[in-house]
Amino acid sequence: MQRLFGELKRYVGFSADDERRLRTLHPRVLPHFERTIERFYGRILEHDDARAALERGERRVGHLKVTLLQWMEELFLGPWDEAYVDRRARIGTTHVRISLPQHYMVTAMSMVRSDLLDVLDAPDFGDDDRHSVQRVLDLDLAIMLHTYRLDLEARQARAERLATFGQLVGSIGHELRNPLGVIETSLYVLKSKVDGDPRVSKHLDRISHQVTLANDIITQLLDLIRDKPLGRQKVDLGRIFLEVAQAVTRPEGVQIELPTYPTAPVSGDPVQLRQVVMNLVENAVHAASPQGRVVIGAARVGQSVDVTVDDTGPGIDPSIGGRLFEPLMTTKAKGIGLGLALVKRIVDRHGGMIEASKSPLGGARFTVRLQEAS
Ligand code: HEM
Repeated sequence: MQRLFGELKRYVGFSADDERRLRTLHPRVLPHFERTIERFYGRILEHDDARAALERGERRVGHLKVTLLQWMEELFLGPWDEAYVDRRARIGTTHVRISLPQHYMVTAMSMVRSDLLDVLDAPDFGDDDRHSVQRVLDLDLAIMLHTYRLDLEARQARAERLATFGQLVGSIGHELRNPLGVIETSLYVLKSKVDGDPRVSKHLDRISHQVTLANDIITQLLDLIRDKPLGRQKVDLGRIFLEVAQAVTRPEGVQIELPTYPTAPVSGDPVQLRQVVMNLVENAVHAASPQGRVVIGAARVGQSVDVTVDDTGPGIDPSIGGRLFEPLMTTKAKGIGLGLALVKRIVDRHGGMIEASKSPLGGARFTVRLQEAS
């Protein structure tokens, strides 16, 4: 990043003269910042999709206005050193994290540029002043675009890794279905010949249970690598919650609590969304076992609905860090770490978001943001 900055500075011709000029300009442009900031957020809030991007973040608009003011101050005061580049790159990373489409950032930058140039159009400013402002904005834009490129490259590398992994997993999965099918058929035959010996029956049941588990793992693996088409429709979350609560296996000591209020319908594939809720609730039950609570909630946030699953378990193991949603990541003695990867995959394909945090109940909270059905 530092090398890029040096190269860019040379390319746009950003020099010590520009630095001096920008500092001199600062007190004269400062009174206009507030108007630019109001326009900046006014435009975002007017636009449904841009506002949704804003709501994906954690910060409120009031706080963002303060950070934008700092950003504008630094544009004119520098110092345009390594720390400057790092801070600018961090803003870019923040935007990538909230999946801010690149075109919103570019158009927002154009708006700032045209506002500043309007101010500098007055007769007491010169061409040099305008050029310095153009150059520093070019530098900032380039840094932010660069973070988008880095993110794209990382995602491409990940997609390639997953494609190779997917092909391998797909063929192994299919190959394993056949021997498991033979075991299932033979079990069926054996069960009819047991002649009431309880020990033999018990062992056959155990084998049968393990075959079901192995088949489930293969199904999850194949679901993970296959892009099942989305059958989007209006989905009643309340119904899914109820079905899942009834279907999930849980020890007696674990209570599942459902929302007692009506939940807004979301747009999505009901089968896949049921799977999302099922996997999250299964994990929560596992975490809360043998004695505890799992609380499912849903709340409207702008044009979206946030589904939350909270538990009273031990919380997320900090050693997992940001790899929680990666395939094969697990801390369960009996899991192979596909459930959350699959959940994330489905949520991504719905254009939603998922995140894990600490629950007010003491354990983990998973929040899935989905689009409200129109
Ligand atoms: C020239 C364009 C832009 C600049 C200079 C800018 C600047 C900033 C800065 C300084 C931060 C704080 C970063 C941090 O402390 O981590 C930030 C965060 C954020 N920006 Fe922007 N921004 C721009 C465009 C946009 C647009 C167009 C949107 C929305 C449509 C947007 C949405 C957000 C959100 C939601 C956050 C907070 C994320 C979080 O903390 O959760 N930004 N931006």
